[in-house]
Amino acid sequence: MSLVFDNTKYEIKSLAHNGIHMIYRAFTHIPYAENPIAPDWQCLSIYVPEAYYEEGASINGYTLTTAPIFFPNAVGGYKPGKECEPEIWEDGRANSIFHALAHGYVVVSAGLRGRGMQDKAGKYIGCAPAVICDLKAVVRYLRFNKERIAGNVERIISNGTSAGGAISSLLGSTGNHPDYEPYLKAMGAADAKDHIFAASCYCPITNLDHADMAYEWEFAKCGTKTPERESISKELQAMFPAYVNGLGLKDELGNALTLNTDGTGTFADYVKKQVIMTCELELNKGTDLSSYDWITIADGKIAGIDFTKYIFYRTRMKEAPAFDNIKMGTPENELFGNADIFYRHFTEFGLKHSEVSGELAEEMQVKMMNPMNYIDDTDATKAQYFRIRHGAIDRDTSLAIPVMLATKLRNQGIETDLALPWGVPHAGDYDLDELFAWVDKVCAEP
Ligand code: DHB
Repeated sequence: MSLVFDNTKYEIKSLAHNGIHMIYRAFTHIPYAENPIAPDWQCLSIYVPEAYYEEGASINGYTLTTAPIFFPNAVGGYKPGKECEPEIWEDGRANSIFHALAHGYVVVSAGLRGRGMQDKAGKYIGCAPAVICDLKAVVRYLRFNKERIAGNVERIISNGTSAGGAISSLLGSTGNHPDYEPYLKAMGAADAKDHIFAASCYCPITNLDHADMAYEWEFAKCGTKTPERESISKELQAMFPAYVNGLGLKDELGNALTLNTDGTGTFADYVKKQVIMTCELELNKGTDLSSYDWITIADGKIAGIDFTKYIFYRTRMKEAPAFDNIKMGTPENELFGNADIFYRHFTEFGLKHSEVSGELAEEMQVKMMNPMNYIDDTDATKAQYFRIRHGAIDRDTSLAIPVMLATKLRNQGIETDLALPWGVPHAGDYDLDELFAWVDKVCAEP
């Protein structure tokens, strides 16, 4: 099978929304690897504003060859991600592909393997690291075809939400790393590099092998859902400081961000500061915050917050352990399965406390799903820009997760825009105007 892109095979389509009549060229369902494991899934679509094909045309200053390539993934819950197209949803809103085209971006959407997929023989074919290898194969395909496809392959901006945000951060952190090479070779990915320019990550459910302890560091004070899990919660909570301290994180002034054994410390203060910044922004918008008992306002300013009360306001969502369940059953247990085993543990803690005699995933499989392992690895080409958003009422993972990720990136000199937007639950793509403004800004930097 050839991986040479055929730019003569396309359909011209159109979609109207809110007074915008979008006409675009759709190159669809193109295999992005020579030896796909799930041939129906491992295909991509490229959408290009039709206006670009007129002589001298530009949109927002971009042209057919300079337009950034927006690469949203549709992965949720670590399940397979669908190849999507511009779409108006039932609630009347248009998806990010529509908006990105209207803004002048070229858009690439790819089918990606995920948990639960089986081949004809019943083998599981979507476990880690399938999804990140698929994303990389897509990037390689685009770069391999840079002379033939629309847009600037050196301006690929990945975007995703939740598990999709996690893999967006992973794609941005692991460019060209040799760990993934055997998988990419086996699937017949194009011979090209797989780093990207920028990564947009909404509520990334990442750093999975440390997410249980982070969750208890934050939510243990709310108690567990069942009394049997109290001791598990306490044990995990007690493990988190050593992990944070081992990261060697620093704030903007170079001060060490650490935790004491009781979970207090400069890292805790730093997370709290991010929430205070959220409250300040909201107050400055004119919102009345006087009914929130965890916020203290004095002289029209945020004087402080009570972080414990804020956690009680947010409330625990997941039982301990939140990710590597000692009874199995989470999306993550499934992600770390293998061809024959549906669920596995992926932490020593989960294995030790397993109530179902679960097996442990290989160290390498777990390593390859965590961007934290690659940010300071010089063999990985990092994206130059990250944008991370985690809603201030999102409880799917601890706030410590995006804060650690952003801080580690910044400590490596990577420009990272982090915010915890007020009132936002576990969600993504809710601020596309701001996202696109950020994309335009970083693309304009020399
Ligand atoms: C997603 C949400 C979760 O709580 C989780 O553990 C994994 C994935 C998601 O929405 O993608």
